[in-house]
Amino acid sequence: MFPEDKPVRSSLGGAAELSADAFDRERLLCPDSLAREELPVLCRNVTKRRALAQLVVCSGCCCGQTQRGFPEVPIDWLKALWKEEELNRSGQLTISGCLGPWDLANVVMVLLPDRSEWYGGLAGMQDYAAFVDWARLCHRTDELCDRPAGMQVRLFDRFRNRSALEVEACF
Ligand code: FES
Repeated sequence: MFPEDKPVRSSLGGAAELSADAFDRERLLCPDSLAREELPVLCRNVTKRRALAQLVVCSGCCCGQTQRGFPEVPIDWLKALWKEEELNRSGQLTISGCLGPWDLANVVMVLLPDRSEWYGGLAGMQDYAAFVDWARLCHRTDELCDRPAGMQVRLFDRFRNRSALEVEACF
């Protein structure tokens, strides 16, 4: 469940008020007793919109370009569903321009608190639907759930500095 927008007094800016979900001081170990300059950096700049994860769906020069032979990206379906089910309260949906690895179009990136996961070669509606089911599960449980098991075969390493075992360990 998305935390309530219950106003709480912030010690960061003096009189400024933050919503309760924006700042869980105990969890972030941001003691009220510390002066602003003594706080950890992540305690100084806080968004009200902290999410469990962010789903970035590429719709660029290759992904979704059916005239070039790539599967459709169901943008309207994704946006409408996200809005109707208020999934943005737990996970952000972003439709992006080219993410780069066009040779593995269609591409989806999942941003997690500690890393990004990259999926390529999405074959169509069923693959996007798998990510929707995952987002629904995260939303319902208010927890970061395992990514869709069926998507593991689509995982790829976007960067040069990780081993295949490290990437696979994401699951
Ligand atoms: S268009 Fe999707 S990776 Fe470039």
